[in-house]
Amino acid sequence: MNLENIIHKKNNDLSKRIDKQKVPEHVAIIMDGNGRWATKKGLPRSFGHNKGVSVLKEILKVSKKLGCKILTVYAFSTENWTRPTKEVDFLINLFSEVLKNEIEEIHQELIKIRFIGDLTPFPETLKKIIYNSESLTKNNKNFLLNVCVNYGGRQEIVKVAKELALKSSSGEIKPSEVDEELFNSELLTQGSKDPELLIRTSGEKRISNFLLWQLAYSEIYISDVLWPDFNEFEFLKAIIDYQSRNRRFGGIESLPNESFKDSQCSS
Ligand code: IPE
Ligand code: IPE
Ligand code: MG
Repeated sequence: MNLENIIHKKNNDLSKRIDKQKVPEHVAIIMDGNGRWATKKGLPRSFGHNKGVSVLKEILKVSKKLGCKILTVYAFSTENWTRPTKEVDFLINLFSEVLKNEIEEIHQELIKIRFIGDLTPFPETLKKIIYNSESLTKNNKNFLLNVCVNYGGRQEIVKVAKELALKSSSGEIKPSEVDEELFNSELLTQGSKDPELLIRTSGEKRISNFLLWQLAYSEIYISDVLWPDFNEFEFLKAIIDYQSRNRRFGGIESLPNESFKDSQCSS
């Protein structure tokens, strides 16, 4: 058996352990570790970002094949501007190149692509490519790919608060009408279902200002694998781990009402 066949068999064996009825509809990913991956190999950090793109393409295919409906990936945070200009410029250029090269295939796969974040500081050329890609794919219904660029969870929440305050001062809404549903509908994710699963690669155990509102009850899976080494096998492992979780949402799972009188709480 050649290497490709071995990998295929390994992935196949793992995917048999997945309960197809319990696949998360929305998966969010903090794709972290590109720089460290490259540095470890004695390469410039840009090599890690390039390899990271091919991993994203693979994970997009795998998640779609598995039956997920939404993938939301963190590509550039509001804090990433603090990196050296050379790296920031490289990333901006990479976004343009990748979009130009991949948009036709994304469209053929009936994937809708949406960019989430404040696009204002990006160059006009990138903004144009982004708007064209969004407009080309806006009616695609098979899958939604959200790419978070110049995104910050706190900034998003402040933006919603500002919008609601404006609507309230103009009389469009009453302050008493502000509730979770209304707040949710003003978020950049525009009311799509919250992610059931958040994956962060490279072993870091933090959220780094990602989807602060939407991750309220997401299951978190930390992979020690650096993003450029992440693959179908690692993604399937994350899904299997997610499926083993007991999602309680503050309640008490698998405790029938009758047993309440026997539990310690009643004494
Ligand atoms: C994630 O990898 C990609 C971006 C933030 C754009 P990093 O570039 O953060 O890689 P590390 O964490 O420094 O290894
Ligand atoms: C989070 O990774 C942002 C992206 C993956 C785009 P960072 O590398 O910027 O996060 P920190 O600095 O480790 O928290
Ligand atoms: Mg990082």
